[in-house]
Amino acid sequence: MPAHSPSADLRTAALLAWYDRSGRDLPWRVKSGRAEPYRVWLSEIMLQQTSVEAVKPYFAKFLALWPDVKALAAAEDHAVMTAWAGLGYYARARNLLACARAVARDFDGRFPQTEEALRALPGIGAYTAAAIAAIAFGERAIVIDGNVERVVTRLAAIDTLLPKAKPEIRAALDGMVPADRPGDFAQALMDLGATLCTPKSPSCQLCPLSDACVARVRGQAAAFPVKPAKRGRKQLQSLAFVVLDSQARILLRTRAGKGLLAGMAEVPNVDWSAGAGSLGAAPLQAEWRRLNQPVIHVFTHIDLRMEIAVARLPATAPAPDGMRWVSLERLGDEPLPTLFRKVIEAGLRALH
Ligand code: ADE
Repeated sequence: MPAHSPSADLRTAALLAWYDRSGRDLPWRVKSGRAEPYRVWLSEIMLQQTSVEAVKPYFAKFLALWPDVKALAAAEDHAVMTAWAGLGYYARARNLLACARAVARDFDGRFPQTEEALRALPGIGAYTAAAIAAIAFGERAIVIDGNVERVVTRLAAIDTLLPKAKPEIRAALDGMVPADRPGDFAQALMDLGATLCTPKSPSCQLCPLSDACVARVRGQAAAFPVKPAKRGRKQLQSLAFVVLDSQARILLRTRAGKGLLAGMAEVPNVDWSAGAGSLGAAPLQAEWRRLNQPVIHVFTHIDLRMEIAVARLPATAPAPDGMRWVSLERLGDEPLPTLFRKVIEAGLRALH
C-alpha cells in the first residue's frame, strides 16, 4: 500500500463527506455498506456505455425475472436477449449469461472476491473487476472509468494524452484510495464526474475538491482530460422491408451470430453499405412502397440511414428461407434492438 500524504487524506475525507451528503441514491447502491455482489455486477455490466437513467428500468426488470445469479444462469438465452433488447451493446448480454453460468457452475453461485479472479470471468474487464472488488467486497482496488479519468486528470492537471495517461491516473489514485471505504471512494469519484465535474462546464463552486484541484486553480478545468481527436463515424445506408400479412404478422429473421447486433431479431434489410438498396432485394413479391422518411440510427462507429419499404400481403405465404412470420402481439417476445423497433413502428404507421 502506498504511503498516503496528509493532503491526499484530506482530499479523500472531503470527497467521502460529499458522497455521504450528496452521492446519488441508486437502486443497486448501498451507501456506507456492502451491496450484494449480484446487484453490483449486474448494474456495472449494464452501466458500461449506458446512462444511469436508461439502466434503472432494465435493472429492475432483470432482478424481478432473475433475483440471483443461479436464477439467471438457468435462464434461456432467448429470454435474456429479449429482456436486454433496447439497452444496446448486445455482446454484454451474451457475456452476462456466460458469466452467470460460470459463477453458478464453478463457484456455486458466489462471485469470487479478488480482482484477478473476477477478471477471468466472461465480460468482466479491468474496470468491472476493480469496481466489483471494491464495491461488493471492500477490496482496495483502483477503479478507473471515464468519469474518474476526468476528475483525476483535472485534480492533478495530468496533461498526457489519454489513454497514455492511465498509469499517471492510477498512481495519483493509489495515493488516495482509503483502505476502509474503497467502494464508496470509487462511487464518489464517479458521482462527482457525473454530476459536478462534467465534461463541458464543470460546477467547480460546488465541488468538494476544488481547493485541491490544480486544473481549477489554473482556471483550466474544462481543458482536461486531453484526448486524441475523434474519428468520424462511417456513414452507411440500407433499405428495410416491413411486410404485414392478412393475419397481422410481420416477417422477421435472426441476425448472424457475430458482429453488430449479433443474434438479435430484425426485419429483412439489405447489407449496410455506402449506397442505398433497391426494391429488387425485397424478401418476397408484393406491392412495395418506399417511405419518404428514413430512420436514422447512431451506433458508436456508424451513422446509419435506414430507408423503409412497406407492403401488405393480402393473403398468407410461407416465410422465405431463414425468415419467420411473427404476429404483432408477439413482438415483445422477440429480441428486437431499438433500431428495428423504430423501423417497424415507422412501417406499421405507414401501413395504417
Ligand atoms: N457508473 C458505473 N458504475 C457506477 C456506480 N457504481 N456508481 C455511479 N456511477 C456508475
